[in-house]
Amino acid sequence: MNQVILPASKVSISQAIFGTSRLGGTVQQYDKKKSCEILERAFDSGISTFDTANIYAQGNSEKLLGAVMKRHREKVVLATKGGYAFSSKGRLLSLVKPMIRKVIGSRPGLVRAAGKMRGGQMKQDFSRAGLTKSLDDSLKRLKSDYVDIYQLHSPDQETLEKGEVFEILEDFKQAGKIRAAGVSLLSWAQLAHCYGKGVDFAQLEADFLSGIDRSRELTAAAKDGIVVAARQPFGSGLVAKDPKDWAEEQFGGDSKRLERARQRMTQIKEIGDPFKVILRHVLHSSQYPTFLFATTNLRHLESNFEIMGEAHPDSEEVNALAKLFVETSQ
Ligand SMILES: NC(=O)c1ccc[n+]([C@@H]2O[C@H](COP(=O)([O-])OP(=O)(O)OC[C@H]3O[C@@H](n4cnc5c(N)ncnc54)[C@H](OP(=O)(O)O)[C@@H]3O)[C@@H](O)[C@H]2O)c1
Repeated sequence: MNQVILPASKVSISQAIFGTSRLGGTVQQYDKKKSCEILERAFDSGISTFDTANIYAQGNSEKLLGAVMKRHREKVVLATKGGYAFSSKGRLLSLVKPMIRKVIGSRPGLVRAAGKMRGGQMKQDFSRAGLTKSLDDSLKRLKSDYVDIYQLHSPDQETLEKGEVFEILEDFKQAGKIRAAGVSLLSWAQLAHCYGKGVDFAQLEADFLSGIDRSRELTAAAKDGIVVAARQPFGSGLVAKDPKDWAEEQFGGDSKRLERARQRMTQIKEIGDPFKVILRHVLHSSQYPTFLFATTNLRHLESNFEIMGEAHPDSEEVNALAKLFVETSQ
């Protein structure tokens, strides 16, 4: 597995980062043994870097990760996030979690309703006191004295413009609680607000399906010393669905993007299994130094590792992949 060094902090991360938001959830299928097996398998296959957040599965994702990675701590890069806080209602919901799981089971209508309810409980808090408490709580759940990459979780524009959050991250670094500062952003336009602020890492939705050209932003970020991870390379599961069922809102409400994505999917499928083709592109012909993906299925994990273990394709194949994923300007 290729390694990428965050230039200022010297934290070394794996090119593939494993996301754990789907592990340990209250209302999705949850099997602790299977989740632990997936994490172990990912680590054994060369992934050193894992992404989580204080709020994923109401803290359960961090707990799982902490428990599994404790014995590999020195070799693992733990990236978590702060900024969202659960209200007292949300905390109550997490206490009755085992009961909720039993009642809801895997009935899709109820799962969606519960997800909405939980989403409604979340408030953001990027104050010094809020982030300090959030980080301390994450450290406890992760069973660690430090977090390798601590990320602001979807900060709003005003928070970024004010900039105090970056000083807080710097203070966490000085205190030895975190090794690198990160941001998990909702919009590419926000990236520029992070330049010159000591940010080491950023994660952003890559959108390989509708393919918007991000080379300008990626070049500027690299110049500033920020390593950007291509988040959700499989469109958060869209790749597995029939393109006829995709909706405009899944492409920023933009009908042209949706149409482009459908056309690209047809071309991708002419070459092979879309998950494999996209992975080959991310690994060998995209401009992103790293990517952040997830799976809850061991068979899918193995299939993804098969692609990650392939030899570097020759330049003809790389060019063909780059051509297939050629991006449009916005
Ligand atoms: N605001 C934020 O900070 C934010 C937002 C979104 C995501 N994230 C991070 O990014 C990570 C990845 O997000 P994501 O899971 O939404 O995106 P993703 O990696 O693009 O998509 C995951 C989906 O792809 C499927 N999949 C993966 N490999 C497959 C294969 N070989 N064959 C068939 N299906 C396959 C998975 O299904 P199976 O489980 O069935 O394999 C799952 O439904 C999250 O875990 C989280 O860490 C952060």
